[in-house]
Amino acid sequence: MAEVDEAGAPVASSAQPPSADAPLLRCSDVNISFSQRGSKQRLHAVRNASLEVGPADIVGLVGESGSGKSTLARAIVGLQRIDSGAVEFEGRRLGHTRTAEDRRGIQMIFQDPFGSLDPRMKIRSALAEIIRRHTSLRGKQIDTRCAELMDMVQLPRTILSSRPAGMSGGQRQRVAIARALSINPRLLVADEPVAALDVSVQAGIVNLLSDLRREVGLSILFISHDLSIVRTLCDSVNVIYRGDIVETRPCAELFDDPRSDYTRTLLSAIPRLNGPRTEGLAQGQSLGVRRR
Ligand SMILES: Nc1ncnc2c1ncn2[C@@H]1O[C@H](COP(=O)(O)OP(=O)(O)OP(=O)(O)O)[C@@H](O)[C@H]1O
Ligand SMILES: [Mg+2]
Repeated sequence: MAEVDEAGAPVASSAQPPSADAPLLRCSDVNISFSQRGSKQRLHAVRNASLEVGPADIVGLVGESGSGKSTLARAIVGLQRIDSGAVEFEGRRLGHTRTAEDRRGIQMIFQDPFGSLDPRMKIRSALAEIIRRHTSLRGKQIDTRCAELMDMVQLPRTILSSRPAGMSGGQRQRVAIARALSINPRLLVADEPVAALDVSVQAGIVNLLSDLRREVGLSILFISHDLSIVRTLCDSVNVIYRGDIVETRPCAELFDDPRSDYTRTLLSAIPRLNGPRTEGLAQGQSLGVRRR
């Protein structure tokens, strides 16, 4: 029988353990292009992109609309084929077709949590379904796990009896996070997870992600337009411009001493946290280069 961890999730095969210093996730020279209607030329959405996420790291990916953030994120979770380059997880190169174990290791959440929640299903049933599918937990163990997940995402356990339509945007995003966590991923790819939420609700989700890193060692690739949130949450940041990652730096360094012209342009659009505020932007306002 396969070895399982304390939550009943199968433990990864250890035939080829990653080296101690291998990052959890490494993308190397990833290229992704799309055919364009009415044109022979392909659209190069991601060009030679390389980035790394270490264990319990929170890494930002920022750039304007259309710069290739979601395309790269989708390639990391196996939803988008790559033309060339490599995506490695725990030292293993991942193909486009992912094994069940690959899928368990990396989970993704989106701007609109409705996309990953069935509106007809109560939250308990939605969570139970995925737990049953991916772990050996059964019966009462599943109920216990659902309650634990509500605690982890700081929601009352009564939410388990609700349906998505009866919940607020922030609650839905917390449930989407619980769903992603239900199978114990090591990496969460969060594609604009707070962009659709009110500023006050955004802060709660950002704090939750930070707590999850601290408490369960979750690694996060955090995609956002909002540089002020990235600065609060992330250890390091990758700046992507027209599919190219133009700068990768520890967060504090990037904000204090941006090297690429594009990063400087992005930063000039946000209020200075340690200095005079950019005119016209109120404190706490979303700082997106582009708004939805
Ligand atoms: N399936 C697809 N077919 C064709 N073009 C696509 C497809 N997916 C993305 N693109 C194009 O690839 C480029 C990058 O898109 P992507 O969605 O990755 O950008 P993004 O940085 O996530 O933008 P946003 O901030 O608006 O979410 C865009 O020009 C987009 O139109
Ligand atoms: Mg996107």
